[in-house]
Amino acid sequence: MDKEELKRRAAARALDEVRSGMKLGLGTGSTAKHFVELLGERVRDGLDVVGVPTSEVTRADAERCGIRLTTLDEIDRLDITVDGADEADGKLDLIKGGGGALLREKIVAAASDRMIVIADESKLVDTLGRFPLPIEVIPFGLAATRRALQLAFDAAGCAGELKLRPGKDGHAFVTDGGHWIVDARLGRIPDAPRLAQLLSAIPGVVEHGLFVGMASTLVLAGATGIRTIER
Ligand code: A5P
Repeated sequence: MDKEELKRRAAARALDEVRSGMKLGLGTGSTAKHFVELLGERVRDGLDVVGVPTSEVTRADAERCGIRLTTLDEIDRLDITVDGADEADGKLDLIKGGGGALLREKIVAAASDRMIVIADESKLVDTLGRFPLPIEVIPFGLAATRRALQLAFDAAGCAGELKLRPGKDGHAFVTDGGHWIVDARLGRIPDAPRLAQLLSAIPGVVEHGLFVGMASTLVLAGATGIRTIER
């Protein structure tokens, strides 16, 4: 089956959890985009929800779909965030940020009672790390931050090769928050909670793409159907 169809099915399954009156975090990426589009159809049919987008791209998509939007400054908590992932393991720890929206994605997920992750089944892995880990950094002092990152990888038992994410016209990719991203090719992350802790302690790191202990449900769509893994 076509991968886009699998993503859409996972998104449709997450939509089953949505009720009128809910406040929703709206994820970023191609799978989350399916959710936003399906949600928009329900809103046109009368569903009353309000959303907080995790990126400017998702904001534009949600506005186009007629979804009412708000911010985390105007409301307290969100009921559910629905977002995609680059990788998920069986404990529901994730790598996110392939689309560069990891900072807002993590802020929104942390402000939510539940985080539902939607994906096609190819995203499920035994051990995180095959997908390069995105790390959002401050441009100032980048060389020092890179050295600190290498020390963190050593301490967490992984060998890492870092690459500054390229953007347009030979410049670095710039996030919605005005920062840069370095992608770390680690191959295998033996202890994701430990690495997450070490990365968070580096001053030049704004945020990293390890989402540890945040997802409550993983919805995986495959050729034989949909399965959900709950925390
Ligand atoms: C965006 O920054 C990411 O965290 C996405 O959620 C992740 O890359 C998944 O994207 P796809 O659904 O396009 O694979």
